[in-house]
Amino acid sequence: MKNLSTSMDTLWYISYFICVACLLSKLYASTDGINSSQFLRDGETLVSSGGSFELGFFSPGSSKERYLGIWYKNIPVRTVVWVANRGTPISDNSSSLKINSTGSVVLSNENSSVVWSTSSTRASQDLLLQLLDSGNLVLRDNKDGNADFYLWQSFDSPSDTLLPGMKLGWDLRISLNRRLSSWKSSDDPSPGQLSVGIELDPYPQAVTLKGTKKYFREGPWNGMRFSGAPQLRTNPMFAFKFVSNQDEVYYMYELLNKSVISRLVLNETTSTRERYVWVEAEHSWKLYASLPRDYCDTYGLCGANGICIISQSPVCQCLKGFKPKLAQSWNAMDWSHGCIRDEPLDCTEKHDFIKFSSLKLPDTMHSWVNKGMNLRECRDACLKNCSCTAYTNLNISGHGSGCALWFGDLVDVRRFIDGGQDLYIRVRASKRANRSPVIIALIVAPIASICGVLLVIYYIFRRKMKAKGNNEEDDSRNVASSSRNVAFEEDLDLPLLDLATVSRATDNFSINKKLGEGGFGPVYKGVLADGQSIAVKRLSKSSGQGQNEFKNEVKLIAKLQHRNLVKLLGCCIDGNEKILIYEYMPKGSLDSILFDQTKGSALDWSKWFNIICGIARGLVYLHQDSRLRIIHRDLKASNILLDNELNPKISDFGLARTFGGDQSEDNTRRIVGTYGYMAPEYAVYGLFSVKSDVFSFGVLLLEIVSGKKNREFVHPQNHHNLIGYAWRLWTEGRPLDLIDRMVDDMLVEPEIIRCIHVGLLCIQQNPDDRPTMSTVVLMLNGESMLPQPKQPGFLMDLVPSETCSWSSKNESFSVNDISITAMEAR
Ligand SMILES: *[C@@H]1O[C@H](CO)[C@@H](O)[C@H](O)[C@H]1NC(C)=O
Ligand SMILES: *[C@@H]1O[C@H](CO)[C@@H](O)[C@H](O)[C@H]1NC(C)=O
Ligand SMILES: *[C@@H]1O[C@H](CO)[C@@H](O)[C@H](O)[C@H]1NC(C)=O
Ligand SMILES: *[C@@H]1O[C@H](CO)[C@@H](O)[C@H](O)[C@H]1NC(C)=O
Repeated sequence: MKNLSTSMDTLWYISYFICVACLLSKLYASTDGINSSQFLRDGETLVSSGGSFELGFFSPGSSKERYLGIWYKNIPVRTVVWVANRGTPISDNSSSLKINSTGSVVLSNENSSVVWSTSSTRASQDLLLQLLDSGNLVLRDNKDGNADFYLWQSFDSPSDTLLPGMKLGWDLRISLNRRLSSWKSSDDPSPGQLSVGIELDPYPQAVTLKGTKKYFREGPWNGMRFSGAPQLRTNPMFAFKFVSNQDEVYYMYELLNKSVISRLVLNETTSTRERYVWVEAEHSWKLYASLPRDYCDTYGLCGANGICIISQSPVCQCLKGFKPKLAQSWNAMDWSHGCIRDEPLDCTEKHDFIKFSSLKLPDTMHSWVNKGMNLRECRDACLKNCSCTAYTNLNISGHGSGCALWFGDLVDVRRFIDGGQDLYIRVRASKRANRSPVIIALIVAPIASICGVLLVIYYIFRRKMKAKGNNEEDDSRNVASSSRNVAFEEDLDLPLLDLATVSRATDNFSINKKLGEGGFGPVYKGVLADGQSIAVKRLSKSSGQGQNEFKNEVKLIAKLQHRNLVKLLGCCIDGNEKILIYEYMPKGSLDSILFDQTKGSALDWSKWFNIICGIARGLVYLHQDSRLRIIHRDLKASNILLDNELNPKISDFGLARTFGGDQSEDNTRRIVGTYGYMAPEYAVYGLFSVKSDVFSFGVLLLEIVSGKKNREFVHPQNHHNLIGYAWRLWTEGRPLDLIDRMVDDMLVEPEIIRCIHVGLLCIQQNPDDRPTMSTVVLMLNGESMLPQPKQPGFLMDLVPSETCSWSSKNESFSVNDISITAMEAR
């Protein structure tokens, strides 16, 4: 009896479990496909067999419209990777997806009108629409033996996302061109401005367009990577692949670790192509890399035959053997007209090639390729056609192979710090130098008279002088170009505005128009009669300068023109009034963004790095490239203004020269500067040099990296200022702890560490140990060795703000962030 009841129980349990299992499987029945007789309605989804992706209807962002799309199934952050009806939203939940009788996949609304469909393939009863675990939605015929043959696949009509295994580019057999285009906004998946694809002829290259204009060129594939993105080569995480044959030309990437989730997406908001990796531990996408990366990546920035070198100031130069087409606009940093040959090439003359290294190859619009030629044959082929301007290897893997020729202008060339490639550019053959006079002299001397010997000495002497002259010319290329600047700017007359105009523009210096209080007086926003916005700096009346002296000084300052300096538009002198008129910078000063929690964290690292490099370039110009050799003396975050693209512009330069009192280069009785930024030798002894600016730059750099003010930095455990804290972290080997801002891009961590390293080098106690600004620019770009920094100056605040003993003697004095003009306490 007992036995029977137990077995009855067991039976009951078994049937109970079977029932529950049946119910559960009904409830959670997830299928990965539909056949010709099924529908997929709004509310239902398909899930790929491995559970990676899901297909269904969704509403993006705050939109109420419905779209059919594919997203990751196993990621909590809804990330849509493909949308069917991008431009044709559905306004209600009544739509459904099916395979129709002619073999099209059709999305239709309640009235059965078609919202989106694929072209029809073949009428068959056995069609199956299936979501694969790669994220590919495919249509296939079950009767086909080959399961990998798709009648249609979503991978062939990508949206804004390139998934691993997806092809970007062409299937030439069926004239299919797969391109990505960004979403208009996070609420609207219809195609936005940005798109990327492979340009075919004649030497395939990847190009990102903004609208119809080229915006960023990744360049041609050189066998290992795209010529314009050397940092993205096959690594332990990704394998990159480019196939180019008569059937197909496409780019593809694959993940080497299958458990890593990654996607590449075109981002309309940031105008970049971003590669993300899912980090499970943080439940978020981390930015792995984004392109374009810097200013030099801007398509064709330096015009035809120009070359962009990010570490130079200015960034654009003409290729060797070329000169600016329009010197005036070139010197005014408008490089769009590009460069022309110093002397036109004469086709009847002998020609030669100069090898350039570490380059991004020029636009391949007018090029020609041959896979079979070697470099020697390539050179010969180029020599044979007079309009051929450059050549190089098609494939740089191994010893290099194949041949690519360029015809006409070379456009969009830049130099990389590492990873660029060689390009051979056509020039006139240098005239064979006559036999060296020294050698002739050596043969002649023994038999010649004393006269001959004198001649020899004369020759040698002349040669030496000449050689020296040449070297100087080489070393001072920048200087030469800035002296050209000067010649051009000599004609530039600084407009003089009358006080009434300035007063009208600023509502009679209304307090409402006041933008701030700079080191030398208040600054107002103004609008001129023609609508131009200006910034008006009303200088405090303390300067003892006469009108003419002042005018001459301002004219000199107006001649300083650089992309990273605020432009002086004019001035106004009227009685005691001395007013400077600058271009207006809508984004305000760096400190208003840098030290603002929300604004500061909204910028990614590449923006900050761009700001750091821009300030450094501006200082190089002030220190060595400009004719005046200006020491700024009051460099700080509030003196850096930002234009609409967040390019930094140094303001208040040159004023210290005018207002700084006595003009001796190394010693001054008036100290102009700001606590927290002042170099020790300057603050304490009044000694200033370019190296005191370098110190201020170092402090500013650390502030930018950390997002914290040096002066107001408080650390619970010690009395260090930011400098002291940074130094401690550095010596303890954890420099990255300096930042608490989110850093999204894993590739940038070495760059951040390098910045901190450079910052510490700049703030070393001994001015002689600090690098010059031009070295700083090289260091920032990884082109110069970084020595170990020695102990910085001012590890602690020497002068507590309340008890500054200098205040007694000075008229325009305030602490914290406002500049100080103080008599030196001698
Ligand atoms: C469907 O038809 C009805 C009646 O003709 C119309 O009111 C409705 O707007 C239509 N719906 C769509 C989505 O076109
Ligand atoms: C693959 O990635 C996962 C998750 O990121 C990681 O845990 C695992 O160690 C990786 N495997 C290999 C072989 O790198
Ligand atoms: C584009 O970038 C912004 C800002 O970083 C980000 O919030 C947004 O999610 C990105 N869009 C896409 C499609 O990844
Ligand atoms: C030189 O190359 C250009 C561009 O490919 C071509 O149009 C021209 O015919 C060639 N000239 C000669 C002499 O081969």
